[in-house]
Amino acid sequence: MAIDLQSRLADPLKFAYWVPNVSGGLVISTIEQRTSWDFDYNKKLARIAENSGFEYALTQARYAASYGADKQHEATSFSLALLAATERLKVIAAVHPGMWHPGVLAKYVITADHISNGRAAVNIVSGWLKDEFVNFGLPWLEHDERYVRTEEFIRALRGLWTETDYSQHGKYYDISNFTLNPPPVDVPGRAHPEVFFGGNSTAAQATAGRVADWYFSNGKDLEGFSENIGGVVASAQESGRAPRFGLNGFVIARDTQKEARETLREIVAKAHKPAVEGFRDSVQEAGASTTDNKGMWADSSYEDLVQYNDGFKTELIGTPEQIAERIVEYKKRGVNLILTCYLHFQEEVEQFGREILPIVRELEADLALANGLELRAVEAAPALPVG
Ligand SMILES: Cc1cc2nc3c(=O)[nH]c(=O)nc-3n(C[C@H](O)[C@H](O)[C@H](O)COP(=O)(O)O)c2cc1C
Repeated sequence: MAIDLQSRLADPLKFAYWVPNVSGGLVISTIEQRTSWDFDYNKKLARIAENSGFEYALTQARYAASYGADKQHEATSFSLALLAATERLKVIAAVHPGMWHPGVLAKYVITADHISNGRAAVNIVSGWLKDEFVNFGLPWLEHDERYVRTEEFIRALRGLWTETDYSQHGKYYDISNFTLNPPPVDVPGRAHPEVFFGGNSTAAQATAGRVADWYFSNGKDLEGFSENIGGVVASAQESGRAPRFGLNGFVIARDTQKEARETLREIVAKAHKPAVEGFRDSVQEAGASTTDNKGMWADSSYEDLVQYNDGFKTELIGTPEQIAERIVEYKKRGVNLILTCYLHFQEEVEQFGREILPIVRELEADLALANGLELRAVEAAPALPVG
């Protein structure tokens, strides 16, 4: 099966936001951030997001302080609570294969899926924060070996979600004749809860192509994004698969480009230097530890790391029109989903839905037409109470 990026231009882009389930927001900076990591703030945010045209929320998995996030809520339980507090939003919980048995996670997600009527998803993250593993007394595998385990893990999840009497005898997991009952909710167009995948190195790309439903790229410029998905596309085509692509970006939408740029300048000027430097040391276990020196954060500057998923590189910084245009440029290069983060989540998620999304839809319709296609309609959804 070839991935036909062009025919996908008929599919409206999807939008997600990072759940701020850790303290300090999504930038390592002392600039004012009207964002809180507590549950009440997040519950309201999730409801604002589903009313504002966001289809997904992504909860990060963090067990110990890093990048200034000295308090963290656990990802799977937080995601489940958000699912229970919303009606349409799909919530993606990040999970580390080295910390979970795939059978336990598969069962957990099925329960979350039933509670939420088919809205549970996972983001499989292979890990870079070595101290979390070592200090928990868990094995810390060498970089590419982590992806060997991740591949087995995802195959096990999929097998346990879709088959009865499932067996898989691998290097890391040994599962015999297991049937999980009930199975996940039967959702049209979805074979099982969606599997997202975060990781940017050569090994990550090859693995994602073989097993992920969605590949997440860290923030990238246009060229960087194309390069990043290249390895995934090649690997997916070899395996006859067609994953979709998400891209992280930090959004600063202001009335003028000058104001937006000034906000970026202030975020970086007020960066919490020791926390950024500590983070830079920890991420040496990621892309920089590979033989080809490719992968996440391998080419990130100090300024890039202030948004710890390289979100400034995507340049969603300017007026709503400029941001919408930039987003559609990424769509031309194969992006299916934009994963967003902000300084002031509740206000800016709402603003994104009100001011940026309608322009994106217009530009997408033009783009589809220019390619002899018609943009598929996005279902209009009634506004739900937020408070
Ligand atoms: C969108 C996205 C979300 C991620 N979320 C998490 C997370 O919640 N917890 C975590 O430890 N790592 C997370 N990661 C990091 C990856 O799992 C991986 O460790 C990192 O990309 C380095 O991998 P690489 O060296 O293969 O590029 C995320 C990555 C991306 C792109």
